[in-house]
Amino acid sequence: MLQDIPTPTLREAGPCVLETERLMLRRPTLADVKAIAALANDRRIAEMTRRLPHPYLQDHAIEFVRTLANDARETVFLIENNFVPVGMVGVDWREPDAPELGYWLGVEHWGQGFATEAARATIDFTFEEFEVEHLVSGARVANPSSRNILEKCGFQWSGVELHRFAALGSSTPVDRFRLSRSVWASLKNWGNSTRRAR
Ligand SMILES: CC(C)(COP(=O)(O)OP(=O)(O)OC[C@H]1O[C@@H](n2cnc3c(N)ncnc32)[C@H](O)[C@@H]1OP(=O)(O)O)[C@@H](O)C(=O)NCCC(=O)NCCS
Repeated sequence: MLQDIPTPTLREAGPCVLETERLMLRRPTLADVKAIAALANDRRIAEMTRRLPHPYLQDHAIEFVRTLANDARETVFLIENNFVPVGMVGVDWREPDAPELGYWLGVEHWGQGFATEAARATIDFTFEEFEVEHLVSGARVANPSSRNILEKCGFQWSGVELHRFAALGSSTPVDRFRLSRSVWASLKNWGNSTRRAR
């Protein structure tokens, strides 16, 4: 059943676990803080994400997980492959009419398609569970990997904005993207209308 906005917490919005072919996406708990800190404590990740501090300590992970438990502003999933944490994906609902997709992976897990797989599951979850008309996202102009993910998921470029990045301690240009429900629905249906093999 679709939920009315604003009720976007994971607790209220159906499944706590999303499964894909290779990944399990679930709510992070305090038992995960060591793994989260080990994955996130890398400047290459912090410099591409708006809010991750660097260095990223276990205390940051504890505060993050504790805040999530009472926070309706973010729907966050820990991404696991074969029960091993590999990164995070989530939707930020601070702007209820423009929920924002975000994600990062531990560096050793890059280049296997995990981020795209996790992003697609989270996009499906959001459009299936909430009456929202579009998702937004952004990637630093110096972040072609992230732009690539958004384009593979059907996001369309909508402009450039300046955003502050905690680890940089300054603002930097960010390409903004948008995925409408109608584009998402159309992509999901493509399989039904593909050319038949002879
Ligand atoms: C952005 C980030 C998540 C990208 O991670 P990634 O693993 O490179 O992303 P993808 O899921 O797109 O996988 C990349 C490649 O894996 C390859 N791959 C290998 N095996 C694959 C498989 N089984 N299925 C799909 N792709 C596979 C693909 O070739 C794909 O690249 P391509 O689409 O150009 O062909 C990662 O670099 C990161 O965490 N960066 C720092 C944080 C960040 O930038 N976050 C985003 C800010 S909004």
